[in-house]
Amino acid sequence: MLFPSLLLSAAASAGAAAAQGVSTYVNPAVPTGTPIPANYTGPLRPQVHYSPPTGFMNDPNGMFYLNGVFHLYYQYNPTGLGAGNQHWGHATSKDGYTWENQPIALFPPEEKQYVFSGSVVVDTNNTSGFFPNQTNGVVAIFTLARYNEDGSGGPQTQAIAYSHDEGYTFQYYAQNPVVDSTSSQFRDPKVIRFEDHWAMVVAYSQEFALGIFTSTDLKKWTWASNFTNHGLLGAQYECPNLVKMPVRDRESGEVVDEKYVITLSYFIGDFNGTHFNTLDAATRLTDFAKDNYAAQFFYGVEGNQISLGWASNWQYAQQVPTGNNEGWRSAMTLPRASYLTKAPRIGWTMVDEIYDTKSIMGDSLATKTMGNGSVTVDYADVASNALYIEANVTGIDVAKATSFSTLNLTFTSPSSGESLRSGFYFGGDNPFFVDRGQLRGFDNVFFTDKFSVADVYYDSSADKTASWRVQAVIDRSMYEPLTMVNVAARDLPAGAKVSVAVWALKSTWAGQANKQGTVVGNVTTTSKRHMIYEGVSRHNE
Ligand SMILES: *[C@@H]1O[C@H](CO)[C@@H](O)[C@H](O)[C@H]1NC(C)=O
Ligand SMILES: *[C@@H]1O[C@H](CO)[C@@H](O)[C@H](O)[C@H]1NC(C)=O
Ligand SMILES: *[C@@H]1O[C@H](CO)[C@@H](O)[C@H](O)[C@H]1NC(C)=O
Ligand SMILES: *[C@@H]1O[C@H](CO)[C@@H](O)[C@H](O)[C@H]1NC(C)=O
Ligand SMILES: *[C@@H]1O[C@H](CO)[C@@H](O)[C@H](O)[C@H]1NC(C)=O
Ligand SMILES: *[C@@H]1O[C@H](CO)[C@@H](O)[C@H](O)[C@H]1NC(C)=O
Ligand SMILES: *[C@@H]1O[C@H](CO)[C@@H](O)[C@H](O)[C@H]1NC(C)=O
Ligand SMILES: *[C@@H]1O[C@H](CO)[C@@H](O)[C@H](O)[C@H]1NC(C)=O
Ligand SMILES: *[C@@H]1O[C@H](CO)[C@@H](O)[C@H](O)[C@H]1NC(C)=O
Ligand SMILES: *[C@@H]1O[C@H](CO)[C@@H](O)[C@H](O)[C@H]1NC(C)=O
Repeated sequence: MLFPSLLLSAAASAGAAAAQGVSTYVNPAVPTGTPIPANYTGPLRPQVHYSPPTGFMNDPNGMFYLNGVFHLYYQYNPTGLGAGNQHWGHATSKDGYTWENQPIALFPPEEKQYVFSGSVVVDTNNTSGFFPNQTNGVVAIFTLARYNEDGSGGPQTQAIAYSHDEGYTFQYYAQNPVVDSTSSQFRDPKVIRFEDHWAMVVAYSQEFALGIFTSTDLKKWTWASNFTNHGLLGAQYECPNLVKMPVRDRESGEVVDEKYVITLSYFIGDFNGTHFNTLDAATRLTDFAKDNYAAQFFYGVEGNQISLGWASNWQYAQQVPTGNNEGWRSAMTLPRASYLTKAPRIGWTMVDEIYDTKSIMGDSLATKTMGNGSVTVDYADVASNALYIEANVTGIDVAKATSFSTLNLTFTSPSSGESLRSGFYFGGDNPFFVDRGQLRGFDNVFFTDKFSVADVYYDSSADKTASWRVQAVIDRSMYEPLTMVNVAARDLPAGAKVSVAVWALKSTWAGQANKQGTVVGNVTTTSKRHMIYEGVSRHNE
């Protein structure tokens, strides 16, 4: 990650806390060894998306899955509502939705050297030598970014830290960096296991290149190849991923092959341990709107690959009203499960599905099977204000669909008159649109209020009809405090059938709150004692 202008932390006085082995710089305003208590009840707080306890969050980092637990780390400024003073925050989840806040996992090793984005691997076979007697050793690989006195960027180097307790606490490796550099634009290492070695992709951000490095022990890295000037350049390359994904037959869902994917935009290709070769010259996009950045895939997942992204955008992440109103900024996207397939006409494509929502499903609010028609649900009484909505349209005679054949999903607030509109055109070039321009609460020149994308669908089945499906989650400010949803279809070709379902979602935070409404997180864990006074947590060993 990189932010346009780094706001160096306001809190000034230095304090060094002795981590075992290598000392780290702990800003006295940052609590160590205990999660930051949080209020997740505010009207803007998402209830099924992860957001930080307080302060500013950006990229997801170090994501891994081990022994039934998803670990999510994230770029975190615990002392401000904009980027700066970067740490690795930490939360864990068994279901991918219900996150328990953990103590901050990585602190800056020195004042003015921040912990930027990176990844985590599980060193099952002790290749690093850090784990004499365990198969669950965890190693984090990340960028350390130095800042000069005048605030300008110094070198970005790649470093490692290791954890004997499955990622709750880390120690810095004494011989960092493991990939040195004098560049201020070299960051975001993502490491995977490839047969007999480790492979890292890392961004030479402003040269529009990814370096691929290899290592047998996570400490000594060798440059292997560059993947340069692919796809959409934008301002810079950041947060690349390299991930192996199953290829599924589109009809049967059977796994028929596996391929690798590099994400920047995304590229499908073959990886042989040192070189990535794309299958074709296409640049593909996972999302059509602009509030999903720096997504990362969890290390250690078999089958469909699971990822989360940062549900914001540097153009306005530091201005959104959650900061002044509720003391936090940014949320993650919902988890997605992805695989590759070949679709008619489009060819290779990555299919992203919302990860299994079973654990957060609340009451069923509506189910209906209809042709042309409409379903309206007033969800003002749903405590979480969060909903899951699904509409399956089957039996579509594509040739008979017209430019009036549409299915819309519309959220409204009868009290304020606000609305959020979205919908799909079954005829023509099959645009899907989202219009968030009828919402108030945030205004910014970079905030794009209308998006659309071509969502081509096919009549590939034996009876020459097509089907189409939409899944949607609304979650407080992950849209807005709206209270009514309407799903409507019109002018569908004869024979088409729409199956709609609307469910309330359970708040993932409500059950974690104490009597005062505070979510304290995993406080049972610390071996160190802490006192909290005057709103500041101080170390007291
Ligand atoms: C939590 O935040 C809500 C909304 O911002 C506020 O009404 C409530 O008083 C807060 N609760 C506590 C315990 O501070
Ligand atoms: C660990 O070693 C075993 C046996 O050599 C090998 O099959 C496996 O792939 C290795 N796993 C990792 C994560 O290194
Ligand atoms: C792990 O690596 C260290 C350093 O190489 C070594 O001393 C130790 O014996 C190894 N442990 C196992 C179980 O292989
Ligand atoms: C590893 O296990 C062996 C055998 O139980 C024990 O002798 C040794 O002290 C252990 N090493 C460490 C570093 O815990
Ligand atoms: C890889 O690309 C980077 C960025 O352009 C460049 O600095 C580096 O020299 C390249 N490596 C090699 C070995 O060509
Ligand atoms: C991987 O591909 C590169 C370039 O395509 C080639 O030079 C290298 O030998 C290949 N490595 C293996 C292990 O096949
Ligand atoms: C969906 O919205 C579009 C754009 O406002 C409109 O033209 C179309 O008639 C709507 N369809 C339905 C089913 O309401
Ligand atoms: C929807 O309405 C159109 C226009 O009235 C009609 O031709 C079509 O058969 C209807 N579709 C279904 C699925 O009932
Ligand atoms: C939509 O289709 C999926 C996949 O076949 C199915 O699991 C789901 O229950 C359907 N939903 C509705 C509302 O019919
Ligand atoms: C709390 O943290 C400890 C490590 O400090 C860990 O062992 C434990 O599993 C965590 N519990 C939960 C529920 O996250």
